[in-house]
Amino acid sequence: MVSTQKPHKPSWSLGDIAYEGIDRGVIVDNRDWFYLVAASSFVEILSDLYAANLGVYYAGDDEACEWLARKWEPEEMQHGAALRRYVSCVWPDFDWERGFEGFRADYAPYCQTALLGPTRTLEMAARCVVETGTSSFYAMLRNASPEPVLAEVAGHIRDDEVGHYKGFYHFYRQYQKREPHSRWRVARELWRRVAEVDSEDAYLAVRNVSLVHAPERPFERKDFIQFRNRVRALMTRHYPFQPAVKMLVKPLDLPGPVRNVVIPFLVGGARRVVGGRSTR
Ligand SMILES: [Fe+2]
Ligand SMILES: [Fe+2]
Repeated sequence: MVSTQKPHKPSWSLGDIAYEGIDRGVIVDNRDWFYLVAASSFVEILSDLYAANLGVYYAGDDEACEWLARKWEPEEMQHGAALRRYVSCVWPDFDWERGFEGFRADYAPYCQTALLGPTRTLEMAARCVVETGTSSFYAMLRNASPEPVLAEVAGHIRDDEVGHYKGFYHFYRQYQKREPHSRWRVARELWRRVAEVDSEDAYLAVRNVSLVHAPERPFERKDFIQFRNRVRALMTRHYPFQPAVKMLVKPLDLPGPVRNVVIPFLVGGARRVVGGRSTR
């Protein structure tokens, strides 16, 4: 149950993070980790745009709008702020503001209320996919980080993202009662959103990090594909495939025996997809 009655108290804040204790030497020369953390900070801080869109889309649903405004958006913004501060501690020469402005300008056209799900029920299911992706991504960063303070930040963010999943799932269940959709229709929407995971936000965020960090080198699709393939190598070792698949299929409310067959099948498929090398 999502509580929206009491003022939301965050479970952690930037003041809890020992930034002064960062073991800079183990990460400062790792370009992939710099790109991962900086690009993630861009995507998180843009949450004010996503929140504005969702607020418009769910106007009239006071419980959902209050939860989005009082819990979801401030936590997403804090994720961005925590990662930004990490970047400024480890890579102080990086002009974060300039990179972020480039990303915001590039990505804003993709961020419109008109592009949200075809119905309120299906958009809630789609948000569960997004939060499955973010919670699993930060679990991977926590597990794989070569630096302990970054692992701590990623762990806090991962826990928040799991909470977001639970919130959206709660609202999804409410909408399913009011405006039901068939399991098949929900599955199609989940699949559509999974297929979008490789969409523009990650590419544009990494591109704008590169444009500021290495302006002398043009950043092309192939550079992004190479970067993504190196991240996939991290994923094969550190990504929580099984929990992610369980979260992904939960909105389908599959009967137990079907779930027991489907989950291992999808986990195996996801591992093979990540283990392969894409050239697209
Ligand atoms: Fe987040
Ligand atoms: Fe989230």
